[in-house]
Amino acid sequence: MASDELVITDAADGIATVTINRPGKLNALNAAVRQAFMATLERLEADTSVRVVIVTGAGERAFVAGADIAEFETRTALDQFTASRCATVYSAAARFRKPLIAAINGFCLGGGCELALACDIRIASTGARFGQPEVNLGFLPGGGATQRLSRLGGVGQAFKLIYSGEMIGADEALRIGLVEEVVAPDRLMTRARELAASIAKKSPVALQLIKEAIRASLETPLAEGLRLETALLSVAFSSEDKREGVRAFLERRPPVFKGR
Ligand code: COA
Repeated sequence: MASDELVITDAADGIATVTINRPGKLNALNAAVRQAFMATLERLEADTSVRVVIVTGAGERAFVAGADIAEFETRTALDQFTASRCATVYSAAARFRKPLIAAINGFCLGGGCELALACDIRIASTGARFGQPEVNLGFLPGGGATQRLSRLGGVGQAFKLIYSGEMIGADEALRIGLVEEVVAPDRLMTRARELAASIAKKSPVALQLIKEAIRASLETPLAEGLRLETALLSVAFSSEDKREGVRAFLERRPPVFKGR
């Protein structure tokens, strides 16, 4: 695949790796990258051979250093309002129906941090740096940080990071729950693929329903969420994968899930 593409996809064994490829600008998200990323997710969602997706950034310096600041110079309030009514990379990631793992290899700032927050699981290299620097530019995050950061790291951490615009390192991000694992830089993709491989072996039906249930926990009261969990469990019980999983256990063999 040509390396001048803004988003590179590489897929094998049920795992697709999506690399945001604008290293000269620390993978900043401009309109073309956003478009390519959303089109890639749409394609991967439809591709039944893909079971898990890893998102990362090209080069050694950045996951994504935020939205492209150059685009803000001429952007009007109406442009911004119109853009906010359209699908975004953040909503596309959060609604993507398959497991999405962010492999964070460097600067993870602004929209980059928000993209990571919209993924299901975040693994960071020890050198990763996180922050929401929008306040330094005179505005606020618009890709979900005020909501998702406060849910993952707590309201105080959200205030601290978003008010101050300060960066934190990977260990601090781990401590506050912004990432789930931190590994050495040379282990990052190996670890992301290892986790993806373990998830890719599971039933795609179960994975999709798990995602639906856990995502709902972010926005529903407990009783409603518990009712949804029960309803989704009933859906899982109608699947071939559930029959295969139970039969394989009883026959003492590994299951072969087909996503039906
Ligand atoms: N938008 C557009 N371009 C960006 C960018 C962004 N968010 N982040 C980095 N770049 C570009 C720089 O302009 C520079 O381009 P150039 O070489 O053509 O001048 C290139 O990426 C390398 O960045 P540089 O600033 O030279 O690297 P650095 O090591 O000195 O600093 C950062 C790294 C991440 C601290 C710094 O680039 C930065 O603060 N970026 C902006 C982060 C931000 O505010 N993001 C939120 C936007 S809402």
